[in-house]
Amino acid sequence: MGRVRVVAPATSANLGAGFDVFGLALDRPADVLVVEEIEAGVEMVVEGFPVPETPEANVAGYVAKRLAENAGAGVRLELRKGVPPGSGLGSSAASAVASAAGVAVLLGLEVGMRELLGVCAEAEGVASGAPHADNAAACLYGGFVCVGEGMRVLRVEPPEWLEWGVVLPEVRVETREARRALPERVPLDVHVHSLGSVVMMVAGMMRGDRELVRLGMRDRFATPVRSRWIPRFEEVVRAVVEAGALGVTVSGSGPACIALCSGDVCSGEEVAEAMGEVYSEAGVECRCFWGKPGGGVEVEGRRLSNILKG
Ligand code: HSE
Repeated sequence: MGRVRVVAPATSANLGAGFDVFGLALDRPADVLVVEEIEAGVEMVVEGFPVPETPEANVAGYVAKRLAENAGAGVRLELRKGVPPGSGLGSSAASAVASAAGVAVLLGLEVGMRELLGVCAEAEGVASGAPHADNAAACLYGGFVCVGEGMRVLRVEPPEWLEWGVVLPEVRVETREARRALPERVPLDVHVHSLGSVVMMVAGMMRGDRELVRLGMRDRFATPVRSRWIPRFEEVVRAVVEAGALGVTVSGSGPACIALCSGDVCSGEEVAEAMGEVYSEAGVECRCFWGKPGGGVEVEGRRLSNILKG
């Protein structure tokens, strides 16, 4: 009976107006999962952050149960959480994808990427009250992704120059609550604005056009609602612009804020530090992260997209 080691990175969903559609894989932090085959059932242990350890209550356990039980096999999961839960950095998606990738490769399941994305999106639904595939798609495929109907994923290799900085203030935001707070209906002008931003972002990523990416980060749907829970958000925006970044938005459902920048103007580290300073000056605890877009989940050092099809 074998075992595999999986590394599943943090991701940032929405990137402005691409609510439940856009995802960006980050190169850090990451969850590390060791999956081992056992006689029967699903067992798990978790370290790193306090999250539920019973397989039924944990997204990684949920996904493993779905896949392993279907195959008539058993697995043991050893999960080291590196992506902070409740941060807006795709913590539950990282765990779900790590589990899906590890179990699929270990047991040699005949599944494709889209099928695994479906299981992970369902697990996200159990965790947050509504299935969504943006974080999971970015984690599975890497790079910048757009999720369409039927779990179709458009993957775009982000521009070489793209760097990101994240600040994570010490406030708790539950995805479930952050989703409930959104308006059920969208006024026509907001819809038109969102369409414009989304097109700019996709074109900007594909062409490597900094100005289009900057315009693409603008959002009038979720960001105005969710930024209210983020302390000093206006000051964070000012600090990012002064640092020379393209823009900043709420990462997923928050409270992390992600800024995108062009490494030849300012580095992700500089932007993250500029945002961190806003909080240090205000006496609010925060953590900063920075890096480049990432390649997505890896099993035994190989990208899943190079192992599985479709
Ligand atoms: N698209 C999701 C949301 C990401 O914004 O609610 C959070 O997991």
